[in-house]
Amino acid sequence: MTKIIKTVGVCGAGGTMGAGIALVAARAGFATVCFDRSGDTLEKAAKQSIGFLDKSVERGKLDATKRDGIVASMVRTTKLEGLADCDLVIEAVFEDLSIKRELLGQLDAVCAEDAIFASNTSTLSITEIASGSKRPERVVGMHFCLPAQLMKLIEMSPGILTSEEVFGAAWQWTETCGQTPVKTQDKPGFILNALLVPFNNDAIRAVEAGVAEPADIDRAIKVGLGYKMGPLELIDLIGLDTQVRLCEAFYPITLDPRAATPPLLRRMVAAGLLGRKSGRGFFAYEGNTMFGA
Ligand SMILES: NC(=O)c1ccc[n+]([C@@H]2O[C@H](COP(=O)([O-])OP(=O)(O)OC[C@H]3O[C@@H](n4cnc5c(N)ncnc54)[C@H](O)[C@@H]3O)[C@@H](O)[C@H]2O)c1
Repeated sequence: MTKIIKTVGVCGAGGTMGAGIALVAARAGFATVCFDRSGDTLEKAAKQSIGFLDKSVERGKLDATKRDGIVASMVRTTKLEGLADCDLVIEAVFEDLSIKRELLGQLDAVCAEDAIFASNTSTLSITEIASGSKRPERVVGMHFCLPAQLMKLIEMSPGILTSEEVFGAAWQWTETCGQTPVKTQDKPGFILNALLVPFNNDAIRAVEAGVAEPADIDRAIKVGLGYKMGPLELIDLIGLDTQVRLCEAFYPITLDPRAATPPLLRRMVAAGLLGRKSGRGFFAYEGNTMFGA
């Protein structure tokens, strides 16, 4: 029988992805438990989430009563026990296999036998993460895109031992949330990052080789291929440090030279040019305004 999901837990809910995932769940009407080991981060994320909802009301995209309902349905905790009643727990903690495996082992002790555990990992193996749990058949890959509260795609990947029932229930839940699930195998980077990381690196190498100015590279991709955003603006949004981490995760597994960290990227990160979050990357930023494009 398909597991009925009423209450959703998010681990790492104070982080970039976790905060957005919690909003997706709460917006769809699920009681949502936001868990993070850092209380400060959790509070900061809550303020940002409320700010996001307030903006949606101002723009006429969300009813004020609905906003109040969403806020009321989200509870915050720094105690793992707070997740005890969750039917589905989505982890979005640091991209570190040992941290994720340890967390799943701890969830085993706290959550019901039939709870579903999902991982939002970008590069790690779902099967390896699931091996941290005594119930690997109840673990599934659920990869949201940044920013989770705005992007519809979720890459869904079963690990080797994931049961069909769990995969089906998790898939159904994403659809109930109004998201668009796509099935992919448990491979590094799934579909999106496997294609995107080498492509973004190509754009960085084009800058390094002096092929064109960053703005012109992005313009060519947008106008020529119909992309909404150029690769260099996208790297600025993702964070140049995150792009380095993605390369470092991919290259040893794939040995694809296009996935190796471009030297220019490494130099820019060393100089503190991390993209939007630091105010400068391939372009410059002041608040929401971008310069140099
Ligand atoms: N940032 C992205 O673009 C992106 C996109 C898709 C998927 N992901 C994946 O999402 C996950 C989180 O990435 P992020 O960028 O949101 O990271 P982040 O650093 O912004 O947030 C991670 C959060 O996890 C918390 N945390 C760490 N260990 C914990 C533990 N054991 N228990 C509870 N909380 C813990 C931290 O306090 C932090 O708030 C990673 O697996 C990453 O690969 C990231």
